[in-house]
Amino acid sequence: MRHITRRSFNKFLTVLPLAAMRAKAIDVAASRVGLKDAFADCFRIGTAISSPTLRDGNEPLLDLIRREFNAVTPENCMKWARIQPAEDRWNWTLADRYVDFAEQNRMYTVGHNLIWHSQVPPDLFVSNGERVTSEQLKVRMDRHIQTLVDRYKGRIHAWDVVNEAIDDAGGWRRSNWFEILGPEFMERAFRLARDSDPRATLLYNDYNEHNPGKRKFLNELLRDYRKRSVPIDAVGFQGHVALSSPDLSAYERSIEAVAREGFKIHISELDVDVLPRATASADVDRKEAYSTSLDPYANGLPGSVQQQLTDRYIALFEMFVKHRAVIERVTFWGTYDGESWKNDFPIHGRTNHPLLFDRNLNPKPAYRALSSGMRRS
Ligand code: XIL
Repeated sequence: MRHITRRSFNKFLTVLPLAAMRAKAIDVAASRVGLKDAFADCFRIGTAISSPTLRDGNEPLLDLIRREFNAVTPENCMKWARIQPAEDRWNWTLADRYVDFAEQNRMYTVGHNLIWHSQVPPDLFVSNGERVTSEQLKVRMDRHIQTLVDRYKGRIHAWDVVNEAIDDAGGWRRSNWFEILGPEFMERAFRLARDSDPRATLLYNDYNEHNPGKRKFLNELLRDYRKRSVPIDAVGFQGHVALSSPDLSAYERSIEAVAREGFKIHISELDVDVLPRATASADVDRKEAYSTSLDPYANGLPGSVQQQLTDRYIALFEMFVKHRAVIERVTFWGTYDGESWKNDFPIHGRTNHPLLFDRNLNPKPAYRALSSGMRRS
C-alpha cells in the first residue's frame, strides 16, 4: 500500500500552487462545485457520455456531470457504425443531443472519433462482395469526415481524428485502413479534418503509449508529420490502466517524449481496472471468457482494494499535475461504475469499480482525495 509521506507530499507541493489548490478543495466540499474547479488551474476535467444517457436522459447523472466536469466526449454515438450505419444514411439524433448538451453547459466538446478500425459498419471495406478499392475507400473516408466535421463545425472543439493506428509492438496496425490505403490513410484523415474545420484541435488517440515500441513509433511519426506540416495538434493518451500496471515511470516517459516533440496531450479515456485480467490490451475486439474467480468484487470493493484505487488515482493525478503545462484535459471514460465499459471488457458481465463515482452515483474515497488536493481521508 502506498503512503503519501511528508517527503512525497512536499515534492508534490513544489509542482502545485498549494494555497490555491487547498482553497479550492475547501470550495469543493462547501459549495458543491466540482472536480473541474479543483483542477481549474491545471487542466480541464472531462467525462464520456453514454448513448443510453443521451437516449433516455438521466437527470441525476446529467446534473452530476454539469457540476463535476467541463469537458465531454461521446462514448459511442459518433462512431462510424452508429452515426453512418450504411452508406449515406446518417443517425444524427444522439450526436445532436450530445453537442446541444455540451454547448448549453459551455463544455469543451470532443468528437470521438473519425477513423478507427473498430465499430465500423460490416460492409465499409466491401463493395459488390469484394474488397473496396483504394479509390472507393478514399471517397468513403472523405465523405464521412467532411459530412461529420462540417455538421458540427465551430461547436466541436477537438476531434479524435484517428484512433489506435499503431500496434502494441510499435508498427502500423494491420487494419483495413492501413491494408487498403497504406500509412497515408492517417495523414489524409488529418488534412480532411483540418480543411473541414480549421479551428478544431486535431488529435491522434491511442492506448498503451507507455510501451517503448509504441512510444518510439509515435514520436517518429509526430516528428515526420511536423516536418511535412501534416495538421496534427495533440496526442490523446487513453489511460485505460490497472491498479499496478503500467509502471507510471514508463507512462511519464511517454508524456515527456510527446511534450519534447512540441505536442499537447489530452488524457482522453481514464479509468482504473481493479479486476484480475489476462491481458493489458485495450483492443476492443479482444474478448476473454468469464469465470467467478475473475469477478471477485461482485458484492462490493473490499476496503484494502478501495485504498489501492485511491492511491492509484493520487499517483496518476500527481503525475498529470506535474505535467500540467502540456496536459490540456483529463477525461474519465464514463462517470460512475454502473455504466463503465469495464464491466464488459475484456470479459462480459463482471462487476468492475474503475471510476470516481459508485453505482449509486456517490463519490468514492478516490474522488475525495483528488478534490482535496490529493489528500487521503
Ligand atoms: C468503448 C465503449 O466504451 C464501449 O461501450 C464499446 O462497446 C466499445 O468501445 N478505446 C476507445 C473507445 O477509443 O472508443 C472505446 O470505447 C474504449 C477503448
